[in-house]
Amino acid sequence: MRTSIIPKPQSLTEYDGYFILDTDASISFAGESSDGVAELLVDYLKPATGFELPIANSASIRLDCGPAGDEDEAGFVDESYTLTVNENGIHLKAANATGLARGIQTLRQLFPADIMKDTVQDCEWSVPCVEIEDRPRFRWRGQHLDVCRHFFSKEDVCKFIDLLALHRLNMFHIHLTEDQGWRIEIKKYPRLTEVGSIREKTLIGHDRDRPRKYDDTPYGGFYTQEDIKEIVAFASRRHITLVPEIDMPGHMVAAITAYPELGNFKMETRVRCHWGISQNVLNMEQSTVDFMKDVLTEVMDLFPGRFIHIGGDEAPKFEWSENEAAQKRMAALGLKSEDELQSWFIQQMDTHISSAGRRLIGWDEILEGGLADNAAVMSWQGEDGGLAAAAQGHDVVMAPCQIIYFDYYQAEPIEEEPPAIRGMSKVSDVYAYEPIPNNMGAEVQHHVLGSQGQLWTEYMADMKHVEYMGFPRISALAEVLWLDAENKNYDDFIERLGGFRQRLDALKVNAHPRP
Ligand code: ACM
Repeated sequence: MRTSIIPKPQSLTEYDGYFILDTDASISFAGESSDGVAELLVDYLKPATGFELPIANSASIRLDCGPAGDEDEAGFVDESYTLTVNENGIHLKAANATGLARGIQTLRQLFPADIMKDTVQDCEWSVPCVEIEDRPRFRWRGQHLDVCRHFFSKEDVCKFIDLLALHRLNMFHIHLTEDQGWRIEIKKYPRLTEVGSIREKTLIGHDRDRPRKYDDTPYGGFYTQEDIKEIVAFASRRHITLVPEIDMPGHMVAAITAYPELGNFKMETRVRCHWGISQNVLNMEQSTVDFMKDVLTEVMDLFPGRFIHIGGDEAPKFEWSENEAAQKRMAALGLKSEDELQSWFIQQMDTHISSAGRRLIGWDEILEGGLADNAAVMSWQGEDGGLAAAAQGHDVVMAPCQIIYFDYYQAEPIEEEPPAIRGMSKVSDVYAYEPIPNNMGAEVQHHVLGSQGQLWTEYMADMKHVEYMGFPRISALAEVLWLDAENKNYDDFIERLGGFRQRLDALKVNAHPRP
């Protein structure tokens, strides 16, 4: 086997011989618009080869695509492509630029692993002759990253996005707000970052440990709107869509600390310094609804993707049941329970997001008290939320914590692993994962848009640690989401992972060494 592509293409035939890339090569593009993908390929090949490949009319590397494809009803486009390599050249053909963007990632993986390096002394840039016909199984193939518990520079985030692109993933869910830090500049409410982005200290050790110990060092960081634009542009060039998350009405302690009028009781909070769930949640006054709509308006201006994530998870109802104003509000709105109050609040956000032509997505707790009209559900507490939402005719992204929370341990013995939040999900478990539950009715299975991995970063202080937890589990999940289920084969994946690891090494990715 001369190829070791992850995720494995749907159909790949190898032939004898190689195409050799040398200084004579050039890249051509035919079609309406490659949307910069031809230039992206030039950029990918340049550092290692040193070749400044010109974009010419007749060339050895030909890219070919039609006009921008129509979006389907959920906002996704055709990502299929065909890639032919013979001794004379390379031909990549797709219906649209997104398909080309997927195809160049497969092409990168046909080169020697050194192609991923910044500089290479001496290498023959040979590409095996192949015929590849490819398309993804699922439309939503994602990865989430929590930039709140720990903050990552925009350079680190862009490198991470490029690794997702290499895996032909298409959705990057960035979790931007938390009890422990608000990480996105909002012009209308500057205190969200002035006050809310900084915690005075950070827990040392595990959240279970008692007594709690802290490092007594202020910790902060946030993305300016200019930073966000750069990250969005970097991802868009790779045809990766960002899904921004503003988590509400729970996980809002940083915002309540910055603007105490958002809280339920007249008491002082501070940006949280340890992990776990806070009882402090937003109040449900109209002024708070308007505040959050303003925040979402700025977020929608920055992020062009269809889906806007409003969190909705882990919002304890204690403050609402104890607070007179909240109880009055419930009565005035004709609501019978605190669950209905949360549901009413999410519905306000749904109306706001939908009227801007976007779609709300939230964690599965948004089912409690009734699902907002246009909401899609991200099912994290297992698959039940996804099953219930699909049965009600809503789209679903599967994210069950038991299998695809990559903050869980990944190898035994756990004593030899760095501290993780809990659980155990090995690469083999991730590879065995099937996003369509076997008890889901055939008539609603089309509501499963796909699935994504989660990286919550309580116990990951830097990107090296994120990579260690993420890879190669992300590689396994990428194949689950791309390849048709009947083509999956774990032994074959592990064999290809050997070759793929050389690429991760060339990219200086700190992947876990096992399996
Ligand atoms: C979550 O893990 N609270 C979505």
